[in-house]
Amino acid sequence: MNGVNFAQMCGRVREELAQEHRYAHVVRVARLADRLAQAHGEDRRAARVAGMLHDLARLYSAEKLLEESAARGIPIDAFARLHPVVLHAPLGAELAREQYGIDDERILSAIRSHTLGAPGMSRLDKIVFLADGLEPGRDFAERSRLERLALHDLDAAMRATLRSTIAYLAARGLAVAPATTSAIEYFALTEKEKKTA
Ligand SMILES: [Fe+2]
Ligand SMILES: [Fe+2]
Repeated sequence: MNGVNFAQMCGRVREELAQEHRYAHVVRVARLADRLAQAHGEDRRAARVAGMLHDLARLYSAEKLLEESAARGIPIDAFARLHPVVLHAPLGAELAREQYGIDDERILSAIRSHTLGAPGMSRLDKIVFLADGLEPGRDFAERSRLERLALHDLDAAMRATLRSTIAYLAARGLAVAPATTSAIEYFALTEKEKKTA
């Protein structure tokens, strides 16, 4: 995909999201994903495309998320049934494939795991997850420290960001998704493996 096509994609996303606030967010995510990809030797174009397309279903109603996901055979577990908003990630990957012709599994995987995380995330998955959580429009105390951490150590940034997510949810009495718990366990484990290596 060349620069012109990426610009066309941006124009289309802007029209289809139909909300300037959400469009500004995906632009910031694409930019930070690009910087993280550059810092870690990852494919910058793939990072930008995933950033631009990650929230295609973010503004869907709960009902529409459940319907459209079911229609595509996307698994809907008990957590997603209670919190359909999390389906915007796997559904967004399907929309990127159907509407934007994205068939690069690396990009689709990064879109799929951008909200809850997952065990065994690829480097691009981590980049898009972190870019989404740490883009400059996010307003929390640790944001800029975590952004700097992400630029030099993706796994350390994943651990810190997942921990801060869990603390945020716990403080509000909100449930943690099973995928997020598995991701925390996975990144804690990779840290132990590093120490014993
Ligand atoms: Fe999202
Ligand atoms: Fe997002």
